[in-house]
Amino acid sequence: MPKPKSPERPLVLANWKMNLSVAESQTLARSLVRGLAAFKKPNFELGLCPTYPALPAVAKVLQAKKVALGAQDLFWKPVGPYTGEVSPAVLRELGVTYVIVGHSERRQYLKETDAMVHQKVLAALAEGLTPVLCVGETFAERQSGQKDIVVARQVSAALQGVVLPKGANLVVAYEPVWVIGSGQAVDPAEARHTAQVVRQSIVDMLGAATVDSRVRIIYGGSVDPSNISTFVNQSPLSGVLVGGASLEPKRFLALLRQL
Ligand code: PGA
Repeated sequence: MPKPKSPERPLVLANWKMNLSVAESQTLARSLVRGLAAFKKPNFELGLCPTYPALPAVAKVLQAKKVALGAQDLFWKPVGPYTGEVSPAVLRELGVTYVIVGHSERRQYLKETDAMVHQKVLAALAEGLTPVLCVGETFAERQSGQKDIVVARQVSAALQGVVLPKGANLVVAYEPVWVIGSGQAVDPAEARHTAQVVRQSIVDMLGAATVDSRVRIIYGGSVDPSNISTFVNQSPLSGVLVGGASLEPKRFLALLRQL
């Protein structure tokens, strides 16, 4: 009989968005690394996603520190005349492991479409980066009973025809758009239900065996020290994407101490 898979350590990704300067990002990374030294055996995997220009400075702080570096976006072409965009290869060069793709703020303010998100997922995987695909419904979609349909549609549009290359992993973050930055997370039971819808959509695309071994589903939206424990180790959820509560070292370390 094969041994049952031991439960994974939850994944915690900090999304600093456009909130910090380069110097502030580096200072925050330093404070976190210092604070983490007091953790006997961290019971989580941690990744920090600073603003693009802060990636090198934060990478330096994280060197050999068992904390992963993440980016908040990428472009879908490897190289060429795409003014203002950042290549997946450059992110790789900077030491990036995780890359957030299709965050609702990009869908809203930059008009990112499902088709673009799909291209970005493919580009990240082709470069050996782990995409953190964000999906989630707006308040209007939820009110009109479309929540499950919307998230299932976003997942299948993003993963259409995707084959995970050998050794590649995928993270899918369920983030109800109306909850992000609101200070009030969704009811954990509802988050689990929607995460289950997300999981089933991924299973339909990639198969159950791949999903079990190489895909993580995490929750994002007003996660803080008081509610984090209700979102991790709650199958199918195995981690969180944290915005506001990751910006202040004391608060973020308090959040991590809950794990
Ligand atoms: P929040 O942001 O934790 O501030 O709600 C989460 C996110 O947008 O990823």
